[in-house]
Amino acid sequence: MKKVGVALLGLGTVGGGTYRILEANREMIKKYQGVDLTVEHVLEKNLERCKQLGVDESIVSTDINNVLNNPKIKIVAEFFGGIEPAKTFLIKSLEAGKSIVTANKELVAKYWHELEVAAKKGKAGIYFEASCVGGVPIIRTLIEGMQGNNIQSIKGIVNGTTNYILTKMADTGANYADALREAQELGYAEFNPTADVEGYDASYKLSILSSLAFRTKVPLDKVSREGISTVKVEDIEYGKELGMTLKLLAIGKNTNGKIEARVHPTFVENSSQLALVKGSFNAVSVVGDAVGEIMEYGRGAGDLPTGSAIVSDIVYAALKTRHTLSNFNNTTDQVSNRKFIFDYVTENYLRVDVGLGANPNAVVSLLKKHGVKLSNVSIKPLEDKVSIVMLTESIKDSKLNNAISLLSSISGVIGLQARIRIER
Ligand code: HSE
Repeated sequence: MKKVGVALLGLGTVGGGTYRILEANREMIKKYQGVDLTVEHVLEKNLERCKQLGVDESIVSTDINNVLNNPKIKIVAEFFGGIEPAKTFLIKSLEAGKSIVTANKELVAKYWHELEVAAKKGKAGIYFEASCVGGVPIIRTLIEGMQGNNIQSIKGIVNGTTNYILTKMADTGANYADALREAQELGYAEFNPTADVEGYDASYKLSILSSLAFRTKVPLDKVSREGISTVKVEDIEYGKELGMTLKLLAIGKNTNGKIEARVHPTFVENSSQLALVKGSFNAVSVVGDAVGEIMEYGRGAGDLPTGSAIVSDIVYAALKTRHTLSNFNNTTDQVSNRKFIFDYVTENYLRVDVGLGANPNAVVSLLKKHGVKLSNVSIKPLEDKVSIVMLTESIKDSKLNNAISLLSSISGVIGLQARIRIER
């Protein structure tokens, strides 16, 4: 039986989950995959954690050289997150001919090309299924399940923390801070949850996924990003009245070679599949020109779900005789011949607040006069102000922004309080 040594860099949430799966399912993997995966070394300074998981102390250290110089280790799985020391350790591993498996979306999104240079040098592989959508095998689907398609769009809920927070706020009226704390306690959030709530995590994932889907590098600086930290519970409520659910969506589209990639809070219709994705669950919808729409759903975060994707990559890497890298120019982040769209065309939810004495119709008339077609207008008189909730038809950002900038000329207008895109 083929025996393949594995090193685990870090035994945090996902590292621990991976170790548990490798131990619990070792015999099953031997029987059905024909490979015996042995954990030869663990880099971890928390010995208590190692003890808790039953890791033999003799294979634990904090020195990467114990991994690099061990010829039994063919695969290095990284769980540190962030850029350093993960980047240096993984590049050294690749150069030493060891394939890498990682859940580190920030590293892949920012330094994929550098990892590939090292992989070519060491004739090793780079596997990162766990970096996007946790346990959901979306990367394998894009690379190996849709080769016969031109992929037109990829759209999904790719961050468990924000989906957990938005679901909690919508279902129970919980406030943002409490919902975030719970997501952290459950192990979904990044070490610094700003990466989750401000949409960075989702933008890393979208950069990776849309590069694979559209077979061209979609660098991070071409991905627009807006998080959920400014979302107000009243807009979630008004959205509900209009039959919509709020989600943080990652959206990539390739329209006749022009690419748009954006992450932002988005209203989806209650009847849509994405509206039904709750809690830490993730889902991704992909549209190919041959297959039409497919959808994958599952846990996007957590120890065992993400560990599932890591172990799948470890098995895959262990069985590969020749590692392949991306099939597009991935040696640099510079993309010369690719057009990206930034002036997006979307429908929108708008909430403009005005003082009690102001005339809401003046707001509506001004927007209409400047080319904003409104499909729904509701006036909400409150104790100290009036909220005007409006839905626009599809409109270019530049045109809408221009109209919105003129609102301050109307007396009594407090201002635009929410502008949320709608996807159907
Ligand atoms: N913080 C991430 C999330 C973990 O909440 O989705 C999985 O990438």
